[in-house]
Amino acid sequence: MPILVTGGAGYIGSVAVDKLREKGEEVVVLDDLRRGHRSALREDVPFYQGCVGDRALVANIVEEHKIEACIHFAALAYVDESVLEPAKYFENNVAQGIVLLEALQRAGVRRFVFSSTCATYGQPDQIPISEMCRQWPTNPYGWSKLAMERVLDSYGRAYGLKFVALRYFNAAGATEHRGEHHEPETHLVPNVLAAALGEKAELSVFGNDYPTPDGTAIRDFVHVSDLAEAHILALDYLRLRGDCSFINLGSGTGYSVQEVIETARKVTGRPIPTRIEKRREGDPTELVADAKKARVVLGWNPSLSDLPTILRSQWAWRRKHPRGYD
Ligand SMILES: NC(=O)c1ccc[n+]([C@@H]2O[C@H](COP(=O)([O-])OP(=O)(O)OC[C@H]3O[C@@H](n4cnc5c(N)ncnc54)[C@H](O)[C@@H]3O)[C@@H](O)[C@H]2O)c1
Repeated sequence: MPILVTGGAGYIGSVAVDKLREKGEEVVVLDDLRRGHRSALREDVPFYQGCVGDRALVANIVEEHKIEACIHFAALAYVDESVLEPAKYFENNVAQGIVLLEALQRAGVRRFVFSSTCATYGQPDQIPISEMCRQWPTNPYGWSKLAMERVLDSYGRAYGLKFVALRYFNAAGATEHRGEHHEPETHLVPNVLAAALGEKAELSVFGNDYPTPDGTAIRDFVHVSDLAEAHILALDYLRLRGDCSFINLGSGTGYSVQEVIETARKVTGRPIPTRIEKRREGDPTELVADAKKARVVLGWNPSLSDLPTILRSQWAWRRKHPRGYD
């Protein structure tokens, strides 16, 4: 029975769709394309352009395709935008998410894998961050994801929904055919490579006065392909009657922004001019996952999530696709 993948035309979703198909799963994609790309999906993937909050559309898809489970990637995910337009984030990420859950529940679809985020932790009270750490987001994007986590937990207890909420750290990297193309792009790795390509005159570094060895913030990068693999493991875990779970997906290794830039200079062989700007409000000093639970519970073994591999893969994709998916 097919898997409904929402947001499957986006960065992580499109890699997951490829991986699901490689494993012999049938897939149906629902994406409104407001941030995704039709060309990030193969032509032969059943595709519906529409919102996850369109109750009738979701009900039709579930009925027509006899959907077994849903992997829910669809969301708005710009932190800055969420601060300026919180209503848009709560409507899209929470209200529409609830409509999706209701339509699935009515049709008897019980298995659900959710894209959550390390942004639900806010300023972490310990490093590495385990799933037991306090969650207190610093922006509406993080709150919208935490709200959905609470909804899932309540629905699991009351209605028998079986879910895994995967809290990703920083997704990066590319596969041979899929890469990251956001407009605007706010993530560090694609912006570093845009500076290497000369598309940006300078790369903005937000803060060099953090209490870290080189003064720049530290993040945990996880290869998009390893992330996609974890969704397949989560699906199998639910099929084997695994309990509802909240699970971090990170490499467990932190790299500073400066280290990312230096590694990118080596990988690309290009100069990457930088400009130091002031810290962005709410940006934590360090975000590094304790990723043990994913290994123990899901058997996840990220093999591509070291920084040089991530940068090499993303650089190869960017050079092959200078205009992204356009
Ligand atoms: N990229 C990261 O580093 C990262 C980190 C943590 C969590 N996440 C989460 O992972 C998920 C995927 O992230 P991404 O980087 O691939 O984002 P993306 O923007 O590339 O993909 C999201 C997709 O969802 C679609 N979409 C958004 N709202 C929709 C709606 N209401 N109905 C239908 N389609 C809708 C967009 O068109 C887009 O194709 C998101 O939920 C994001 O919050 C991403």
